[in-house]
Amino acid sequence: MLVILLGAPGAGKGTQAEMIVERYKLTHISTGDILRASIKKETELGKQAKDYLDKGELVPDEVVVKIVEERLKEPDCQAGALLDGFPRTVEQAKSLEEVLEGMQRKIDYVIYIEVTEDELISRLTGRRICRDCGATYHLKFNPPQVRNVCDQCGGELYQREDDSMETVKQRIKVYREQTEPLIEYYRRKSLLHAVDGDQDINKVHQQLQEVLDNNSRSEGV
Ligand code: AP5
Ligand code: MG
Ligand code: ZN
Repeated sequence: MLVILLGAPGAGKGTQAEMIVERYKLTHISTGDILRASIKKETELGKQAKDYLDKGELVPDEVVVKIVEERLKEPDCQAGALLDGFPRTVEQAKSLEEVLEGMQRKIDYVIYIEVTEDELISRLTGRRICRDCGATYHLKFNPPQVRNVCDQCGGELYQREDDSMETVKQRIKVYREQTEPLIEYYRRKSLLHAVDGDQDINKVHQQLQEVLDNNSRSEGV
């Protein structure tokens, strides 16, 4: 099974991805996570990508397409994968189709998590992440038991550099211009399933489950 999670910055893609991959035994592929890991390790890719992430701009299509292509060919993706934050442009979507065709695979579901802009901003500016295991928290909506300490591993929590108000606004702008056209793109292909992301984490998860569990129908938005 191949699932794409589509949604604005802060829509809850990563949060929902963690819950879904466990239940459906999929491999989670987040291009954002891969890029941040490369930046941390100071690899060639990381050096190329850093400026784009810092500014809230998209990394060039050919760079991310190559990352995803290589990742999808790894054995742990054979049974199924969940793409989080990719594709993000129509160009990337077209390249993904070519890659999948070459592998004789196809997209099963594109799930669009729809969230209002004010909510996106408060989710992103209040987000905290564990330095050691990557678990995601929110100061108000999903706080850790002990301030600044990860419930799962005791690691220290930090704020992503691109979660400052200024960069958040730029990321949302870039999303509107370059990623939002994908909603229509996938709707036309009858692959799109929209869920209301303005609800609490468990309710959103329930809706995603409904899509993945009984799926004969695609919905537009
Ligand atoms: P990426 O890491 O993908 O960031 P993003 O798309 O901006 O999305 P986020 O990770 O910020 O949000 P999310 O939807 O995962 O939300 P989360 O679950 O964490 O990309 C970063 C950068 O990398 C890009 O700007 C670009 O430069 C580059 N890049 C990546 N992919 C690329 C591509 N394909 N092409 C080109 N460039 C690329 O939730 C957010 C917060 O809200 C958390 O605190 C969480 O606890 C909370 N929360 C989640 N759900 C709920 C809920 N239902 N109710 C209340 N709070 C909630
Ligand atoms: Mg994410
Ligand atoms: Zn942790």
